[in-house]
This record gives sequence, C-alpha cells and structure tokens, in this order.
Amino acid sequence: MGGAVVGRLVVVGLGLIGGSLALALKTAGACREVVGVARRRQTCEQALELGIVDRAVTELADILQELEAGDVIFVAVPTLAVEQVFEALRDLPEGVTITDGASVKGSVIEAARNVWGEVPDFLVPGHPIAGSEKSGVTAARDDLYIAHRVILTPLENTSPEHRQRVESMWQAAGAEVLQMPVGEHDEVLAATSHLPHVIAYGLVDTLAHDAENENIFRYAAGGFRDFTRIASSDPVMWRDIMLANRDAILQAIDLYSANLESLRAAIAAGDSDRLMGVFTRAKAARDHFTKMLARKAYTEPMQAQEVTFIAQPGGAVSGELRVPGDKSMSHRSIMLGSLAEGVTEIEGFLEGEDALATLQAFRDMGVVIEGPVNGRVTIHGVGLHGLQAPPGPLYLGNSGTSMRLLAGLLAGQEFDVTLTGDESLSKRPMNRVADPLREMGAEIETGPDGRPPMVIKGARKLHGIDYRLPMASAQVKSCVLLAGLYADGQTSTTEPAPTRDHTERMLAGFGYEVRRDGPCATVRGGGKLTAGKIDVPADISSATFFMVAAAIAPGSDVLLEHVGINPTRDGVINILRAMGADIELQNRREVGGEPVADIRVRYAPLKGIRIPEDQVPLAIDEFPALFVAASCAEGETVLTGAEELRVKESDRIQAMADGLAVLGVDAEPTPDGIVIQGAGEGAAFGGGTVDSLGDHRIAMAFAVASLRARDTIRILHCANVATSFPNFAELAMRAGLKLQAA
Ligand code: S3P
Repeated sequence: MGGAVVGRLVVVGLGLIGGSLALALKTAGACREVVGVARRRQTCEQALELGIVDRAVTELADILQELEAGDVIFVAVPTLAVEQVFEALRDLPEGVTITDGASVKGSVIEAARNVWGEVPDFLVPGHPIAGSEKSGVTAARDDLYIAHRVILTPLENTSPEHRQRVESMWQAAGAEVLQMPVGEHDEVLAATSHLPHVIAYGLVDTLAHDAENENIFRYAAGGFRDFTRIASSDPVMWRDIMLANRDAILQAIDLYSANLESLRAAIAAGDSDRLMGVFTRAKAARDHFTKMLARKAYTEPMQAQEVTFIAQPGGAVSGELRVPGDKSMSHRSIMLGSLAEGVTEIEGFLEGEDALATLQAFRDMGVVIEGPVNGRVTIHGVGLHGLQAPPGPLYLGNSGTSMRLLAGLLAGQEFDVTLTGDESLSKRPMNRVADPLREMGAEIETGPDGRPPMVIKGARKLHGIDYRLPMASAQVKSCVLLAGLYADGQTSTTEPAPTRDHTERMLAGFGYEVRRDGPCATVRGGGKLTAGKIDVPADISSATFFMVAAAIAPGSDVLLEHVGINPTRDGVINILRAMGADIELQNRREVGGEPVADIRVRYAPLKGIRIPEDQVPLAIDEFPALFVAASCAEGETVLTGAEELRVKESDRIQAMADGLAVLGVDAEPTPDGIVIQGAGEGAAFGGGTVDSLGDHRIAMAFAVASLRARDTIRILHCANVATSFPNFAELAMRAGLKLQAA
C-alpha cells in the first residue's frame, strides 16, 4: 500500500480502537513510527509483543519532546479521560496534529476549551464508526476500519492542513471519511449507537436479576444472543458516553419509551393491525438497511452504486424464461390494494426499485404491507379515506409512474405531501399531470418548468372534469382517473390514441365501475374499492429484451412464460412481426382480467420497416430494444410520432442514437423519431463504450446488441436496471448472452 501519509503516530490508549489504528497504519506503511502510550506496563508489553507498536511508554511526557511537525497524536481513551490527556498535551511542538476517536464530540470540544481556552486549530475531532464488543489491546485488528466510516467534526477554525492529514491517515487504514457538525454527530450517534447500548445493557441486566435467570440464559436462543451482543462492550467506555452525551441520549430514550409504551398498549389490546404496522415497517427499514450495508440499494437518495455491463460479442439465446412481474400492474396493485377495503393478496409482484418505491410510499402513509417475498405481497387496505400524512417527503427514486399516479391520488387527500425523486425523475415534466389536477380544483406546486418536487396540498375539494389528453399517456390518464375517485361528479378522459389500460381494468377488478367508450374512460367519485387477489403476469416490456435477442441472433429459440399481452401493450409483437420475426403465442389465457400467453421467438432474418404510428403508444417502452432490432434488419427502419421518447428516464432517441453511433450504426435522430440503416446479415455493431445515462432500458438494449457485435460492448451507469428488471444480468447470462455486471 501507499507510502507514509503521517510522520510519527502516537496512540494514547492502547485498546481495540487505538491498537487497531496503530496496526492498520503499520501494516500499510503509512507512518514512520508508531509509539503507543498506555498507563499499564503490561499493556505496553503486550502491544510490543503483538507488533502493534514500534515503541511503548507509560507516560506521555516521555515522548513529547521528540515530536515534530507532521506527527499525529490519536487519543483513544474513554470519553471522560480525554481532558486529562489534553492536559498532558497542553504544550505541543508546532505542526503536530491531535485527533481522537471518542464517540461523543461535544464533550471533546468542551475538554479542549477547558485546557486551551479555545479549541486549537490543530485538533481535529473524529469518530471511527467501527468497533466490536471485544475490548483491549489483544482485540486489535489491522482490518477493523476497512470499508468503515470515520466522521470528522472539524470546527470553523480547524486548519485544513491538519484536517487533511487526519483524513489521509484514516484513508490509509481503509476507511471512508465524512464530515459533520458536532451537534448533528452527537444526535445521530445517540440514536444509532448509544440508545441500542442502553437497551442491550438494560435488557440483560433485567433478565440477570430475574430469579429464573439460570433458565433464561440456558434457553436464550439466537434472538437474545444477537440482540444483546453489545452488552459485552467495555463498561467504562459506555458509562462515559452516557454521561458525556446526556441530553441527546435522554431524547432518544424518551422517543423509544413512547414507542415501546404504544407497542405495549397494542399487545394489551390485541391490536393486530397496529402490531403488523410497526413490524412490517420495521422489517422493511431493516431489510433496506441491510442492503445499504451491502451497498446494493438504489432507492435511497444517496450515491447509487456504479454498475457497468461488459458484454462480449456473439452468442444466441435459448431456453424457457420467466421475466419479472409487470411494472405498471405492480404499481397499480399497491395503490388500489392500499385504498381498498379488506386484504389484497398479490402474486408475481415486481420486486424492482420502481414498484418498491410505490410500496414504500404507501407504508409511509400508514398502510400495512407484508412482503414482498418471492413476488407475494399482502396489503391490509385502509379504504379510500384511510391514508395518513407521511412523516416526510415521499421519495420515488427513478419512477415517473409512481409520481404521476400518486399525484392524482394524493390530490384527493386531507393532508399535504411532497413528492421527490432522483436526478432523472427530477428533470421530467410534471405539468402534464399538475395541469388537469389543477383544473379539478387541486392545489399543486412544482419546481421550475413544472419539474419535481411536487407539493400537493390537502383538503381541496375536487370536481370531475372531461379531460382531453394532449398526448397519448397512460400515466396522465391514470392520474386523472385516480383523482376522479375523490372528485364530485364524474371524471372522463379522452385519449388521442389507445394507451395501456391497466388502471381501468384493475379498478374494475376491485369492483369500481369504469365506463369505457372508445377513447373515453369515465369514473364517478365516491365509490369504494373491494380487496381481492391479483396475479401480475410477466412484463412484456422486460420480455422484449429476450424477444429482440432471439429475433437478431441466429440459432436462437426462447420461450417467455406467462407474459402479459394486453392489446394496449402488444406493439412490440406487431412491430417485430412486421419486420419478419418468428413469434408464436402459445397457451393464450386470461388471468385476473388480463390476457396472458407464453411467447416463443425463433431467429429469422429481419427487414427494415416504417413503423406504423398507431403502434407507438402500444410499444412506447420497447423502442430502445426495437432500435437494436432495426440495426440488425436488412434496409431502413423509420420511426415517427414518438416524441414522447424524449421525456422518458432519458431522452431515449438521443441516448440510443449516440450509443448506436459509437457502435458504428448509421442512425439519424429526428425530432419525433429516428431513421436507422440496418446491417442485414453478419455483425451489425462494432464494439466500444456506450453510456446508458442511468436509463434501465437503454442499458438492457445495448446488452442485447452484443449478440450481433464484432467486439466487446461496455455499458456505463447500469445500476438502474434494478428499477424494472433486477435479475436481468443473471437471466441474460442463463439465456446465452456473454454479459458480466461489474
Ligand atoms: C406507464 C406508462 C408509460 C410508460 C411507463 C409506464 C404506466 O408512460 O412509458 O413506463 O404504467 O402508466 P406514459 O403513459 O407517460 O407514456
């Protein structure tokens, strides 16, 4: 590992925390010398024997004279002993840095003020978020800090040079360094670390006092062991933390006590709903947290993990595949199930980030939702008027469907709510839903140019309207119809071309009358939804990638099972067939009000076509993959009337044109479509690096292109594939693509 980043490291306090930093820096060769300071001679000897330090002394004063600019003193003693150490460090040579590892920062600042009058600029307070219930020098490990966070809480006058030195030191130990104000640090740690320790110590102590404790400990299984591990931590250290962070810890305890009290009441009253509410929310939060720890989560507004697809050229696809559940229906199943009366059971739910964002939003509004487990979700509906105000803004990640449909539903609630999303969603147009909702009497604010966030005011009286959609959008239609459930009188939508009708079908499935007459759909406010069972078929938009894969790769033969083939979604089948694809629909059936089939696709040479404009809304999400098919077809393919593609998760016309150009395809974007000259036989694509711009469908389309490429295709920013198709890479590899996700 790299060279020295600090001069000499002096570790005051050779316990787990101090010893581990000493060992990590020594192992990394990140300092010239490590000197340990411990009160007990035996500790010094052990540290030397274990190779944790180069030298060890029992008195700080013995080495102070030797210190020089560039050296770092790491104070790793219990919190309340910090002031005494500072006292001994009062007169330090110029240029020496002091930092510490205490779990409470307010008291360290106070200790510094007591000693120096003001906090000196060479003191950089810090706190490594790492440790274990083990303590003492013998527990020290050189990898304790790897991939852990260290929070620094510098003050305004802290010198950047000293701060940088401490940051480099922690990075050399493998840690990630963050900064936070002192007060915020102490509050966050009170909740996330100090409170759990109070509870663990308290629980074990309670049980240990019980007359039957022998039996309790003998029979205590995993739960007790897992929950109380931290009660084996160093008592002095934790006593000090409690005393040093008193106010913040008291606040956390009060909050927790109130919650425990209400759980007690729920148990006493046999209140099953309340218990399920708390437990399902907590489970979801904990599962989410576990994913975050494994750095797999995309839904939170934090840095998403970077995923690159590397696709080797060639291959064919074969086998029987079931792609995940339909995204549009998954969203709607959560929304209508939540607003229904009774318990709704869903099968085949898409466990992708977009549908999960909708699910989380309803949990945040007080709906008890069990699962998802293997596509099964159980929703305890609260009725059309049973939602509660969420504790904060609803974060909807990448999902336009969540935001637009929710806007309609939320316009009819009694509470205010704010809808936010990720970078891509924050750029998407929302006036297309805000305008008709305002016409209905809703009060809605958006960001500049009608972009998110959307602030929806509650307690507005909505009235029905007849809305002529200016664009063929199922999201806009659904938004207006859902608001119509809360409006006086009747609400009608008229669409310029048929768009997916899952909202209409599912409303009817929940027993809510929807009148349909050609392009018009009408609902009347004031009805109710009755819970039931929903079977979500596989998503034709996800199946598309394998349909195109089989259609372009000689030797391919795939069977895509249980795919929804709703006539408002089957444009891809019609377009590919018009291009000459060999597609067979087998085992056609109706499942829960939606037509379903197994789709068999075998390779056949494709030819370019002029795509009929009436097919555009019926294949609106399928064009990235269809452009790949067009690139492989003999002759020219022309798409027009598809300007909506420019306002999807990315500008899909431009994103595809740019990527196709990198891969050597002659593709000319137009304002409302594209003109692609196909290659016919042989390789249709070169190789190279293309950018999916964080758009799931662009990423998957270029992965499929590799089947007819001459060289490796690298696809950047693919993490969002998890929004609609979390196991795409796995399934693609199983089918025959030479794809790797890195
Ligand atoms: C969707 C409708 C379509 C589609 C989106 C899902 C829906 O958007 O692109 O992926 O579930 O209603 P528009 O209706 O805005 O075209």
